[in-house]
Amino acid sequence: MQMKANQIAEDQRLEIRNYLDLDHREEMMRLVGEGLSAEPKWLHCKYLYDQRGSELFDEICQTREYYPTRTEMAIVERYAREIMDFFALGGGDLVEMGSGSNQKVRQLLDALPSRSLERLRYVPFDISESALVDAARELLDIYPRLNVMGIVGDYTRHLAALPSGRKLLVFFGSTLGNFNEQEGLELLKGVASAMNPHDRFLLGLDMVKPVEVLEAAYNDSQGVTESFLKNILAHLNRELGADFPLEHFQHKAFFNAQRECMEMHLQARQELTCRIDDLGLETRFTPGETIHVEIARKFTPDGAKQMLRQAGLAPTRWFSDEQGWFSLVELARVG
Ligand SMILES: C[S@@+](CC[C@H](N)C(=O)[O-])C[C@H]1O[C@@H](n2cnc3c(N)ncnc32)[C@H](O)[C@@H]1O
Repeated sequence: MQMKANQIAEDQRLEIRNYLDLDHREEMMRLVGEGLSAEPKWLHCKYLYDQRGSELFDEICQTREYYPTRTEMAIVERYAREIMDFFALGGGDLVEMGSGSNQKVRQLLDALPSRSLERLRYVPFDISESALVDAARELLDIYPRLNVMGIVGDYTRHLAALPSGRKLLVFFGSTLGNFNEQEGLELLKGVASAMNPHDRFLLGLDMVKPVEVLEAAYNDSQGVTESFLKNILAHLNRELGADFPLEHFQHKAFFNAQRECMEMHLQARQELTCRIDDLGLETRFTPGETIHVEIARKFTPDGAKQMLRQAGLAPTRWFSDEQGWFSLVELARVG
């Protein structure tokens, strides 16, 4: 499918295509209206990410309690060469979905001799425009031989923007866990159908582990996760003329054992009425009422294998840490 995009930056080594300008606002208005009119209330977690949201996510990754980033980075560090062997066999694109800052891709790029960087193009794909542009420019400074083609888009809607040629896709951070089962499966199927038989897809999955470790990771002692979650309200205040008083909400994160996921909510401390001007909507909260903002599913090896099979993906290699806390699964399309 041909998709329209606005070209927002171009020089010899950097091209950025923006797919969001076209219909992002309408989609935001629709989803926010639906979520705040529902019982119980919810907001889509992709709206956690604006410039500030991306910064706060990076801060979360540095907290003592947030084990996923360090665990995944240790795995990437250990296996980066093997992963990047993909580019020993030929050139192509290194596509990073939900790219955020450059931490993990730098580990991969550092595993290649600098002359090999001419053979690949890095393609970050993220909804947070300013974070993507800043990260892309930083990479160009660090790797003078690298070319970058950034996609500012929503991977729930713009997968057709993925490059069609030979590629290694990476999806770090267990971001797949932010989708429920059905949506996650849809996303994986979409990626599988964008893959050629020789393409590979490296998927980060956070695994089930003791509940104290999980709950501590999403309730850090510095309150960064709380600020991150509340940023969704600040984002709506700015984008949709809403008046959510951030100080009247608190963050609640707990493990739902039945669904094997962390749930993140914002809870009203008192009775409130908030307006979202651009939607002409007024939304009332009783004391203690919550907005469900995000889930972070935790996977088991068997559950992950079943999900991948259903999506038409087959593991070619399975990298993990010694405790089995995190998995990086390299996948090929089936058939
Ligand atoms: C959990 S963070 C992970 C960041 C980084 N990959 C890592 O592993 O640390 C999720 C990233 O996905 C991006 N993102 C969230 N929803 C998205 C969507 N629907 N489409 C594209 N990017 C999205 C966010 O802006 C953010 O950079």
